[in-house]
Amino acid sequence: MKKIIITGGAGFIGSHVIRLFVNKYPDYHIVNLDALTYAGNLENLRDVEAATNYSFERGDITDEQFIDGLFATADFDAVIHLAAESHVDRSIMDPLSFVKTNVIGTAILLNAAKKYWADKTDKLFYHVSTDEVYGSLGETGFFTEDTPYDPRSPYSASKASSDHLVRAYHHTYGLPMVISNCSNNYGSHQFPEKLLPLMINNILQSKPLPVYGKGENVRDWLWVEDHATAIDVIFHQGKVGDTYNIGGFNEWKNLDIVHLLCSIMDKKLDRLAGESAKLITFVKDRAGHDKRYAIDATKLNSTLGWKPSLQFEEGLERTVDWYLANNTWIENVTSGSYKKYYNQQYTSR
Ligand code: NAD
Ligand code: TYD
Repeated sequence: MKKIIITGGAGFIGSHVIRLFVNKYPDYHIVNLDALTYAGNLENLRDVEAATNYSFERGDITDEQFIDGLFATADFDAVIHLAAESHVDRSIMDPLSFVKTNVIGTAILLNAAKKYWADKTDKLFYHVSTDEVYGSLGETGFFTEDTPYDPRSPYSASKASSDHLVRAYHHTYGLPMVISNCSNNYGSHQFPEKLLPLMINNILQSKPLPVYGKGENVRDWLWVEDHATAIDVIFHQGKVGDTYNIGGFNEWKNLDIVHLLCSIMDKKLDRLAGESAKLITFVKDRAGHDKRYAIDATKLNSTLGWKPSLQFEEGLERTVDWYLANNTWIENVTSGSYKKYYNQQYTSR
């Protein structure tokens, strides 16, 4: 039986990866290591928590003693590392917590893997990263695996640092690793600080929809379950030491995506066409706002045969359906520090 530790499994993408691995691989034991920050929520995993091949370990990746102890007692075959501070706006308000979790936390995990795996080559450290490490594109072009790193926000700089550390442990100590850099994800269980769930929540409450700047920035959107299947394929078939870009060739201007969302929500909520769009409010732009991201996923498509499964419009509708059916989830995750964050972020914008 393979023993795999997945970090950040109670978060948005991590919970989808855990669900996929627990259900698809009954002969793997999946350990979910998560600190349960504001972004982590065990409700995301209710449907798999009773599975005999799943267990949860609450802990912080920046706690060196705890991580060392965990690796000393469990003989892990692989790490899939997703735990991170993940929201750009929070990184602008509090960069040091991003350095702590994303850089130091990753280094602590790498050190434990290096120490307890020694020179064994049948292990794997899979580091989940973002396309934001490549910087910002102009009107044309795509990020490939060879695009030089040019991170511009504290979030992307901290993720770039962690990518560099993972590669450095491979080159210096021979640690078997693989990295993937994915575009913006959307789908169920995403915390309502990110664009789509924030807009869905505000439409439900008839609150203003804060579009940064003129809404002309472009993001490349991927269904979160397609990200999880890409991680599955790369984990099992990716070349050790290599990097894979993950994306669905699906670029949207922010304003267009918000309009599409408004029209879907008008229909679902039996509102008059155009009613939700009236809530759109242009607000002060994000500091250092990256203009455009677009992933070239040709390498992953052609070498490992992975393709996204879902058209964006269908995925967005499914996402809206999930949020409409899970109002209690929204209430629960926004009941803590969310109001304070929201006021700090949007009140005087
Ligand atoms: P998320 O914020 O929803 O979840 C992060 C999880 O990590 C939470 O469960 C949180 O409790 C946990 N965590 C945070 N700090 C921790 C610590 N110190 N110790 C242990 N656990 C900790 O994030 P997400 O959107 O699911 O992103 C997951 C990973 O994927 C991140 O590494 C992110 O950089 C990367 N990524 C995200 C996107 C995206 O669109 N969301 C795109 C590409 C890559
Ligand atoms: P976000 O979901 O934070 O992802 P990222 O910044 O990592 O790409 O934001 C997606 C885009 O939406 C980004 O260009 C910023 C913009 N945005 C808004 O216009 N308003 C908002 O309230 C938020 C959260 C984001």
